[in-house]
Amino acid sequence: IRRITVPQIRARKGGEPIVALTSYHAHTAAIVDRHAEIILVGDSLGMVMHGMESTVGVPLDLMVMHGKAVVRGTKRALVVVDLPFGSYEESPSAAFRSAAHVMKETGCGAVKIEGGRRMGETIRFLTERGIPVMAHIGLTPQSSHVMGGFRTQGRDEETWPLHEEDARVVAEAGAFAVVLEGMVEPLAARITASCPIPTIGIGASPACDGQILVLEDMLGLNPRPPKFVKVYGALAEQIEDAVRRYADEVRARAFPGEGQVYR
Ligand code: KIV
Ligand code: NA
Repeated sequence: IRRITVPQIRARKGGEPIVALTSYHAHTAAIVDRHAEIILVGDSLGMVMHGMESTVGVPLDLMVMHGKAVVRGTKRALVVVDLPFGSYEESPSAAFRSAAHVMKETGCGAVKIEGGRRMGETIRFLTERGIPVMAHIGLTPQSSHVMGGFRTQGRDEETWPLHEEDARVVAEAGAFAVVLEGMVEPLAARITASCPIPTIGIGASPACDGQILVLEDMLGLNPRPPKFVKVYGALAEQIEDAVRRYADEVRARAFPGEGQVYR
């Protein structure tokens, strides 16, 4: 294996922070590949790439398509592909079927599934059969219909033991890392301190062992990014400006110019 491996990520617990980003497409993945240890093909692609309202409608085939693009575009990072809603929750064997399909078709190195305690048995089933699993707890967008939206987790201190239990269960079941999404800092800090595998935070404070963001959010393509996003780029403005100049030049017959013509 020439890429960053699952055991290498696992060994980063408590060490140098793990850099993770999402990518859904070959050209952006090639850039991210030079800087991040983990590239997640997240089911957020349903919203970002396909204009869906939530991740609930994302089909397995779409994850396979984007997963293939990202694996082809990269050579160094560990590529993790999200299993989408409906493809794994029913049973460990259903999860194995979906995860094996994704790994065989895309060549990714691991899959991610949402859920803590309830997914313990499934995580064990997959890891014992050769499929590395990244877990995802706290705010889990695939269950937004049950939770009644997207709520920051752990505002009520009485819920902390349940979240800590989620982290303990997924680690004991064999997950090599766990995404902590949308939770208050003291809870993320407690989980990171007690959990033996790396925690990768998104909206979960600097207490985590690593961080992940949706690439398009941090590049400035999302017109209304969530509070936890730091916007490092201005892609929306850059694209708008480039498209406007192109349109102006086509209308003015200034494009194509001398340099763009076959003589
Ligand atoms: O789908 C996604 O992009 C994710 C990350 C935000 C963790 O699950
Ligand atoms: Na996701």
